[in-house]
Amino acid sequence: MSYAIVYNSRTGNTELLARAIQEALPPEDCLYFGRPDPKALEAEVIYLGFWTDKGRCDEESARFLQGLTAQRVFLFGTAGFGGSSSYFDQILDRVRGELPPQAEVIGTFMCQGKMPMSVRERYEAMPESPRRTAMLENFDEALHRPDGQDLAEAKAAVLRAQ
Ligand SMILES: Cc1cc2nc3c(=O)[nH]c(=O)nc-3n(C[C@H](O)[C@H](O)[C@H](O)COP(=O)(O)O)c2cc1C
Repeated sequence: MSYAIVYNSRTGNTELLARAIQEALPPEDCLYFGRPDPKALEAEVIYLGFWTDKGRCDEESARFLQGLTAQRVFLFGTAGFGGSSSYFDQILDRVRGELPPQAEVIGTFMCQGKMPMSVRERYEAMPESPRRTAMLENFDEALHRPDGQDLAEAKAAVLRAQ
């Protein structure tokens, strides 16, 4: 079955997942790999990777998803906050909302992705509070993500969805 891996990645985290997913799939069936582009729409299965922006997928990914018709879709993404799977579920629900009703979601995967140091500096400038501490801890936990385990889990999720 032909497939396309389409992703938007501002700082490279989602691109790491896209490249891992590419390794897990048969190269001969790959129609397209890269940024959102109408060329990808010809594929039967679309692996769409987004970064999280204000609790939803980034705008370029949203626009691409809105342009799908009846493809099968695997959604993957990264988010700076990764403490709970219910947080990822909320984001994924919103991302599914961008899809036309005929598109079928065959699987999903999300993991934490590191954030720029400027974000940590912003947290550091905040007055001491439990929230500030939690945000700094979350930032530091994300520093090496996606890690090897995330990439292995992304591959496994894709293979399960075959
Ligand atoms: C403008 C902006 C908004 C963001 N909003 C969120 C957010 O609402 N929730 C979240 O968990 N992470 C948020 N992040 C963090 C990114 O989603 C996260 O670092 C992601 O892994 C970046 O992926 P990329 O490297 O593929 O661009 C935001 C980052 C930026 C730059």
